[in-house]
Amino acid sequence: MSESTDRSGFNSYFGFLMAAVGSAVGFGNIWGFPYKMGTHGGFAFLICYLILAVLVGFAIMFGELFIGRREMLGPMGSYINIGKRNGKNLKFMGWLAMLSALFLMGFYCTLGGYVLKYTIANIGTLVNAGWGMSGEAGAYFTAFTTDQTQAVAWAVIFVVLTAFICIGGVSGGIEKFCKIGMPLLFVILIVIIIKSVTLPGSSAGLAFIFKPQWDMLMGKEFVNTLGSAGGQMFFSLSLGMGAMITYGSYLTKKENLESSAWIIVICDTIVALMAALAVFPAVFAFGMEPAGGPGLLFVTMQSVFDSMGAIGPVMGTLFYFLVTIAGISSSISLLEVVTVSLQEMTGKGDPNKGWSRKKAVLTGAVVVGIMNIIVALDGLGATGLPQPLGKCWLDFFDLLAEGIMMPFGALVMSIIVGWVIGKDAVVKEATLEGNKFHEVGMFMACTKVIAPIGMAFILLGQIDSFFGLGLFSL
Ligand code: PFF
Repeated sequence: MSESTDRSGFNSYFGFLMAAVGSAVGFGNIWGFPYKMGTHGGFAFLICYLILAVLVGFAIMFGELFIGRREMLGPMGSYINIGKRNGKNLKFMGWLAMLSALFLMGFYCTLGGYVLKYTIANIGTLVNAGWGMSGEAGAYFTAFTTDQTQAVAWAVIFVVLTAFICIGGVSGGIEKFCKIGMPLLFVILIVIIIKSVTLPGSSAGLAFIFKPQWDMLMGKEFVNTLGSAGGQMFFSLSLGMGAMITYGSYLTKKENLESSAWIIVICDTIVALMAALAVFPAVFAFGMEPAGGPGLLFVTMQSVFDSMGAIGPVMGTLFYFLVTIAGISSSISLLEVVTVSLQEMTGKGDPNKGWSRKKAVLTGAVVVGIMNIIVALDGLGATGLPQPLGKCWLDFFDLLAEGIMMPFGALVMSIIVGWVIGKDAVVKEATLEGNKFHEVGMFMACTKVIAPIGMAFILLGQIDSFFGLGLFSL
């Protein structure tokens, strides 16, 4: 393989795992999972989540890693080749992956900018500088997000950081960052969990997250709970937009695809549960209302740190730093999809004939930068910018990516693996170099039938929740 496009992969299997887990572990784990679990049935939600992760998440994770490793290309090149071999034109799947990554990154980096700002502001409080946190957390957040210059500046810094790491290459940038960042994130999370669960009154938070509400699995509530768990599961696992195809394409033939997929799914779920343990015991210990989304991350959690006394800024700095690492490790995987797709597109399927890595990263970063400038200017809809479909720009980009393109991409991908590529090719690739593939039967049943049905249901659920159609709460 030519070196001209730097299509050399990870230096080690551990590096690959950390990068893939880093893609999966992101804002979704920290502000999505704990709140959804608490409000959608606690332990009952967890059971739904785990069943979906095993039957749908694993199949799609494996399918994406398989496609990437088999073709040794990103989504654009992979789907072009698979289409050619099967007499179909599948290029649209490459486009879908690249556009999903662009739209997702189009707002993800603005949130990343917010988190960076909060890390620095907590450090400011820690060292007693004038640029520390000040005033009531809710007012501070509104003032910051509607200060367009600041919001844009922090979003752009986050995009530049992401591009900087990607320009460093797969092993020189992404792997290096994730090999240090992910273990660090894990350690910080443990420190925060210890603090959170030992606060007086924290048990109410544990009850909020874990107490089983079995009625959430009865009747119409079941559909609701399943929809919420499904949406969370595929977003959290970074599925449906080619991130795992791209990382899988850097995997050497001697690595085990099946265990790789399991490890990523399991680690992501563990971190989501750990995030729940870090966040809600502290929220309840200080008598705050549980919340989800940006409100949880930037208002509720900051109020928690403000209430902690002297240790507050230390915990605040650690917490937002942890979330920054989670955000960057996800956003580099998104930019990598865009980069590789651009190279493969400009090379008509062959990245070696397309743009250089640097040119592709920079082009992707400029597009993503412009999208994030719009989202940052919009200040979550509070600054009076004209808005598409009556939604703030963040929700609009999220609707396109998470609401429509990603679940649709995952749905079609599993059909392609199950029905177009088929069992023999999957088994052949998974058992290269003496590897074992234990769950062939289960995988084929999942990828042919269960995952497509599950993803069709999730797609409906996403559209329902974004447009408030009320289909699922009948
Ligand atoms: N998994 C990330 C999160 O939980 O925040 C979001 C994400 C990142 C989705 C990268 C898709 C992706 F390719």
